[in-house]
Amino acid sequence: MSQQIPGYTHGTSVVAKSPVSLTDFGLMQKSALFGEEDVKYLRLSHDVVKDQVEAILDVWYGFVGSQPHLLQSFLGKSDGKPLGDYLGGVRKRFGQWILDTARAEYDQKWLDYQPEIGLRHHRTKKNQTDGAASAAIVPFRDLFALIFPVTVTVKPFLAKKGHSAEDVEQMYAAWVKSCLLQMTLWSHPYVKAGDFKSGIESNSETFSSRPSLHSVRSGMYLFSFPRPCAARYSPAVDQGSSPHYS
Ligand code: HEM
Repeated sequence: MSQQIPGYTHGTSVVAKSPVSLTDFGLMQKSALFGEEDVKYLRLSHDVVKDQVEAILDVWYGFVGSQPHLLQSFLGKSDGKPLGDYLGGVRKRFGQWILDTARAEYDQKWLDYQPEIGLRHHRTKKNQTDGAASAAIVPFRDLFALIFPVTVTVKPFLAKKGHSAEDVEQMYAAWVKSCLLQMTLWSHPYVKAGDFKSGIESNSETFSSRPSLHSVRSGMYLFSFPRPCAARYSPAVDQGSSPHYS
């Protein structure tokens, strides 16, 4: 299917390697409390959404079309009118994105396509895929905010195939987390060079996923930092004094 979608270059050699590594992405997943359960519920949602893609897109396009400041990104530069071909071309890739999100296959090819989507929102590559004469950039201002309408409106579709309320909640939560993580990856071209990550990720000891003894004993597993990480980020370290653990 994907090969027939104009401009959908996922998995092809024209897509550059992601500047964010799979290790980085693993850390981002931890930040979002995204785990195997979320992968499971996203994949459960694949069967649920696969024959509802057009209906979901109708809702999302309806929302963007109802907000002039959002529609701006799809207007012709010369006459200020919506560019039908552009909207239609993007819509096909957006439909594929719904399926890719639900598939939740986080391999290198998937990772490489994420900055590409970011570049296509950013002035670096916006309009190029569809040869559109439209606004130069999708403003960063609206990118994360759109996650709420996108995910809250997908929820009723997740509930349409007879799953329990709990399963629907879990699928919904996984969609929210996935969108947050993807949008963060897409933001790469919008972020000042050198500021996307700290540059200390290569130290695997520092980012060990094992909880510290301290955190296990105190029963604070989920929300405790492993010690080396706490030491790195402790304000005491920033101020030049010795780190301390309470
Ligand atoms: C949750 C937030 C968003 C999601 C999930 C999303 C998703 C997508 C996807 C999947 C594509 C196609 C990528 C491809 O070429 O394969 C796309 C392109 C596009 N999106 Fe978004 N987007 C979001 C936010 C926004 C916002 C806030 C705007 C502004 C109205 C916007 C405007 C556009 C435009 C203009 C394109 C075409 C870019 C190009 O010229 O190639 N998007 N978006």
